[in-house]
Amino acid sequence: MYVCLCHGVTDRDIRAAADNGVTSMRQLGEELGVGTQCGRCAPTAREILRDYSSPG
Ligand code: FES
Repeated sequence: MYVCLCHGVTDRDIRAAADNGVTSMRQLGEELGVGTQCGRCAPTAREILRDYSSPG
């Protein structure tokens, strides 16, 4: 599913970025542009990042 419509970024893209070492929203914005335009995707993107990087 698309998380960030402004930049066409999906939840899979966010997990792939996390696999490549992205750990924060700031880094995610630098890598994929997520949250850098309208900002509407930020809460969802943060949740995906947190759920994915937390153990279990
Ligand atoms: Fe991500 Fe607009 S939907 S910045």
